Amino acid sequence: MNILILGGGGREHALAWAVKQNPKCDRLIVAPGNAGIAAIAETASLDIMDGAQVVSFCEENAIDFVIVGPEAPLAAGVADATRAAGLLTFGPSAAAARLEASKAFTKEICDACGAPTAGYARFTEAAAARAYVQAQGAPLVIKADGLAAGKGVIMGMTLEEALAGIDEIFGGAFGDAGAEVVIEEFMTGEEASFFILSDGENALPIGTAQDHKRVGDGDTGPNTGGMGAYSPAPVLTDAIQAQAMAEIVLPTIREMARRGTPFSGVLYAGLMIENGRARLIEYNCRFGDPECQVLMMRLGAQALDLLLACAEGRLDSARVNWADDHALTVVMAAAGYPGAYAKGSVIRGLEALPEDSRRMVFHAGTTARDGQIAATGGRVLNVTARGDSLRAAHDAAYAMVDAVDWPEGFCRRDIGWRAL
Ligand code: AMP
Ligand code: GLY
Repeated sequence: MNILILGGGGREHALAWAVKQNPKCDRLIVAPGNAGIAAIAETASLDIMDGAQVVSFCEENAIDFVIVGPEAPLAAGVADATRAAGLLTFGPSAAAARLEASKAFTKEICDACGAPTAGYARFTEAAAARAYVQAQGAPLVIKADGLAAGKGVIMGMTLEEALAGIDEIFGGAFGDAGAEVVIEEFMTGEEASFFILSDGENALPIGTAQDHKRVGDGDTGPNTGGMGAYSPAPVLTDAIQAQAMAEIVLPTIREMARRGTPFSGVLYAGLMIENGRARLIEYNCRFGDPECQVLMMRLGAQALDLLLACAEGRLDSARVNWADDHALTVVMAAAGYPGAYAKGSVIRGLEALPEDSRRMVFHAGTTARDGQIAATGGRVLNVTARGDSLRAAHDAAYAMVDAVDWPEGFCRRDIGWRAL
């Protein structure tokens, strides 16, 4: 079959790498892609936020299956447009993607289905929000309701920080995404990510991972999109996964279906685990980046069969064949990220690195220029390895990191520390 993947980050490189290994895949196009993706698939320049443009591209190229990577086109209704045109599609409708696009909506769903999550209050004006914070006291978490590229969450560890967060969001720092503010109870515990495919009715857990959100070693410095990940996450024991399925995921899927907006795609549940029990932090409606890189490294070619079963509503008979192994990815980012960083520096040494079913450098912000690979983004490479133990995966990934010649880049040296 002919497959189109929308996106151009490390997540989409990993998806393309796994899909490409499946004999069902005849032709693979990724839009817009990046330099790493261009080495394994065709790339196309296409406005992936424009449903009509995506549909005509699919018709011109006889595409049989569309996989939507990032949240922005999902929230914009691109999966609705492709489905309406009769194209088999992996990714939720805009109505179902509200589970990521509106934090207030997710809280409403949790209330309706009884899913455990942080206590909260919603506000549309600063004065009432400030009064609430004064009355509650710190710590509190202040969130812009809408999509803010992962930046709309402010930790109010003190009253001053919480109040400043309210002013920042209502002051327009996140545009329309900040028209409503959700203020949450500060939860303690250990965070982990749980990935579940849903076809609207059935649910199939496909793996766990742990991200590293802070930019610096020892979880210090500002939040980023994620500086590294590993799978599985031992904190998500079988018992906690079962509790999260029974109390959070399945009730959510049933509630979305009951409302006439079934969720079809991958539900990425950000969980806080404390005292042997998970509570929901937030949902995302797509694979995590960089968590997808470790999941794909472990799933390999069967990923395509699973995504097809999801899109075709056949998850009740789908199974995941897990290898009893571990994968770890280290993000290499441009110096300065997540703040301002320079673009255009040249990365050397990649061609000498092994690329096989156990070791891959997935590209994020890269471009090919005069036969060289140049950095064009904040997060640039995902150096990923698999091993029989997490330690083996860790050592193999860092051996590759050390062979990359890129003086303008940096990475965390402690990915995996919680589990190691
Ligand atoms: P979110 O975008 O909602 O995942 O928030 C980003 C990060 O903020 C999460 O990964 C958590 O580390 C943290 N966070 C969000 N909500 C809470 C909460 N209610 N309590 C504690 N930490 C939170
Ligand atoms: N790595 C966090 C995310 O994809 O949202």
